[in-house]
Amino acid sequence: MLYKVSLVSLSDVTRPRNPASIPPLQLAVTAALDASSADRDVARAAAARHGLPFAPRRGRSLAAVAEQAGAEALLVLSPRRSALFVDGAEHPWRAGMAALRVKRLLSGERVTVDGFLDAAGLRPGDALLDATLGMGMDALVAAAAVGAGGRVVGVEASRALAALAAEGLARCELEAARRVEVVHGDAAALLGSLPARSFDVVVFDPMFRYGRAAASGFDLVRRLADPRPLAPETLARARQVARRWVVVKDGTPGWDLIRLGLQPIPSARGAKKMYARVEAEAG
Ligand SMILES: C[S@@+](CC[C@H](N)C(=O)[O-])C[C@H]1O[C@@H](n2cnc3c(N)ncnc32)[C@H](O)[C@@H]1O
Repeated sequence: MLYKVSLVSLSDVTRPRNPASIPPLQLAVTAALDASSADRDVARAAAARHGLPFAPRRGRSLAAVAEQAGAEALLVLSPRRSALFVDGAEHPWRAGMAALRVKRLLSGERVTVDGFLDAAGLRPGDALLDATLGMGMDALVAAAAVGAGGRVVGVEASRALAALAAEGLARCELEAARRVEVVHGDAAALLGSLPARSFDVVVFDPMFRYGRAAASGFDLVRRLADPRPLAPETLARARQVARRWVVVKDGTPGWDLIRLGLQPIPSARGAKKMYARVEAEAG
């Protein structure tokens, strides 16, 4: 198993400031109960990479490890699994529906609509900035769409979600997962530090403020996510950083798109998500 975690190279992308809007969550890294000493070394190295403390497992329950480490959450790593222990439950990272979407894309199946891919309009070799990475599901699908010559950078404001996604993607069997570079930080700060026209496409999928019932796996994101809506000035900056266009996702009926003055792309009847595409600023 290759433990390559793509944390973005800082030569061309400046690491953004930590987001101020999320209350800090005391997070530590530990290993699975049955970890070998090599597995423990891998978990320890991951902790160092994410700038997090390593809490030895020593056969204890996750609750006991967290309590002794003074941690509110634990990133639990094993050779094939990355999970977050928070509020007394373990939440594994899974490619889930994204794996199915990648499979459909790679097999050329066009019957099922993928609203994200249609809106993003990605081409082989593209560089995509996912400004709201979350669990990295859309980023993983995008990485398959841009192919081996392409690049996907995902920025996530929550340290816990960024670390979970980075380690989950590093353990994901899909080849496209190797192409997702994870950055922990604030998208607005990152966009401010990037040169104009440095990515083909920039996408935003902010938390839906008017969202419906959560799909499975979404509760963890809701618990840890940065809830701020997309600011008009961040969208304006993204239009400078993009060479082609910026895509914004919203939940139906698209109140945030209306707030931002964006025209939704017509979607299938009953669709729960809406997309708008804004041209890059000419320059
Ligand atoms: C709806 S989720 C994104 C889900 C993602 N598209 C996926 O497919 O897994 C929104 C995520 O964006 C993050 N976020 C919101 N505002 C952000 C910002 N300014 N900078 C970085 N991440 C942000 C939240 O913390 C949350 O994890």
